[in-house]
Amino acid sequence: MKGVILAGGLATRLRPLTFVTNKHLLPIYNKPMIFYPLESMVRAGIKDVLIIIGPGHAGSFLNLLKSGKYFGLNLSYEIQEEARGIAQGISLAESFSDGKKLLVILGDNIFDYDLKDTVENFEKKEKGAMVFGVEMPTGSKQYGVIEIGKGGKVISIEEKPEYPKSNIAQTGIYMYDDRVFKFIKKLSPSKRGELEVTDLNNAYVKEGTMEYEIINWWIDAGTSHDELLRANNLVADKIKHGELK
Ligand code: DAU
Repeated sequence: MKGVILAGGLATRLRPLTFVTNKHLLPIYNKPMIFYPLESMVRAGIKDVLIIIGPGHAGSFLNLLKSGKYFGLNLSYEIQEEARGIAQGISLAESFSDGKKLLVILGDNIFDYDLKDTVENFEKKEKGAMVFGVEMPTGSKQYGVIEIGKGGKVISIEEKPEYPKSNIAQTGIYMYDDRVFKFIKKLSPSKRGELEVTDLNNAYVKEGTMEYEIINWWIDAGTSHDELLRANNLVADKIKHGELK
């Protein structure tokens, strides 16, 4: 299995912080944001990781992460010329994936859930995909929302719904079989002009091959200045209490 981290996009919601740098290079307490998904890849036992970056600050990623030796990873880079959606970003990983399954993590997602066992189990599966949800008792309108049926099957995933069907938010952690590129080619742009990861995931839901797992805690640090601050405070707190390295 290979890894893909999405670190493109314009991060307009975090302006003016993101005028002269990329969101994923901003600090989360003591490390740049992108270190968190990279460390999640390391914990998951992934060795080869492709980072998808926008054209704006590509050089800064190379200066910071270089070959990936610091993490024990082999890093590759791909430029997403325009932010045309998460699924469009994933499509750029086609030649890198070389027919292997993929673990995709959004570059602004902070969590410490260990994906190793799930990666190993997913490797053995013939086909399918996985999403990772987190319970959001206070509502999850700003995320994708996963609806689970009585038998534990994923029934639907809705992108930022007005009336969420559950309190399970879709995180930015996904696993796909090698048919993912075929599914992406069939997608059409959404109202916001993007190829949506939720539409991609629903192709697997429709096929009945989408599985899910619930993780303990997670922050999408890129949603707002408040979430960025919350991620900083939470991580600082966890590190000081020895719950996170
Ligand atoms: O973080 C979880 C959420 O991520 C999910 O709950 C949603 O279902 C999913 O659509 C996504 O929602 P966002 O609106 O938060 O996505 P955003 O545009 O902020 O992009 C998330 C990450 O993906 C961010 O680190 C930048 C990167 N990205 C995004 C786009 C649109 C790219 O690399 N290229 C892109 O074209």
